[in-house]
Amino acid sequence: MSAAVAIVDRDEAAARSTAQLVEEGGARALAIRADVSRAQDTIAFVEATEARLGPIGIFANNAGIEGVVAPLHEYPDETFDRLLQVNVRGVFLGLKHVIARMMQRGTGAIINTASTSAIRGRAGLAGYVASKHAVLGLTRTAALDVAGTRIRVNAVLPGPVESRMIRELEGQAHDSAIALRRNVATAHGRPQDVANVVAFLASDEAAHVNGAAWVVDGGMTLA
Ligand SMILES: NC(=O)c1ccc[n+]([C@@H]2O[C@H](COP(=O)([O-])OP(=O)(O)OC[C@H]3O[C@@H](n4cnc5c(N)ncnc54)[C@H](O)[C@@H]3O)[C@@H](O)[C@H]2O)c1
Repeated sequence: MSAAVAIVDRDEAAARSTAQLVEEGGARALAIRADVSRAQDTIAFVEATEARLGPIGIFANNAGIEGVVAPLHEYPDETFDRLLQVNVRGVFLGLKHVIARMMQRGTGAIINTASTSAIRGRAGLAGYVASKHAVLGLTRTAALDVAGTRIRVNAVLPGPVESRMIRELEGQAHDSAIALRRNVATAHGRPQDVANVVAFLASDEAAHVNGAAWVVDGGMTLA
């Protein structure tokens, strides 16, 4: 049986083009526009997914923003607030409304995208680092809240991965003379490197993995 995948993004064109890639890979796909920081959008995407594709068995809670690079004493309040709205409240709302559905069936796998910024400080990234520490805390708490069911909640913690986000952060770090590079000394990962771990955590092979923080960084955080 092939998967049916709902792609949720604030950017509808991005959701559509990802859905097209999924369909080219042979699976059913549905693109949904939603701002994950808004409760009504989250409720709507959960309802639309279940109505169109059936019960949600796997939830990759992945949307996130990076904010700006600035030393903490100059970090803009509004950027900090927006990071908490999207990266923390967004992850919380997704967990809340998807777990409520999974509880009705007693089974499911959720993978939150945190970051190695969940377990390390990063110069110039106060809002991002605070938000990703919070994602790990939410993961561990949700895992305990579903204990005793066959629902599992884990986090993946990527190091730098080749994407729009890392190019933006490194560009800003360069402009503001904050040495983000010293945080990213190893080669960047590929999106597929993270996806492979997410696929494992979603699978029955990970049946005994719950509340875990899976670092995917080629060993960067060991140094
Ligand atoms: N790229 C990296 O180096 C890296 C490293 C560690 C963790 N991460 C995390 O991986 C996740 C994906 O990041 P990416 O690298 O693919 O970045 P990206 O900017 O390429 O993709 C993020 C996606 O999230 C969407 N999004 C942003 N705010 C949203 C909102 N409020 N509602 C719905 N969708 C929203 C964007 O439209 C975009 O499509 C993020 O949580 C990020 O923090 C990335």
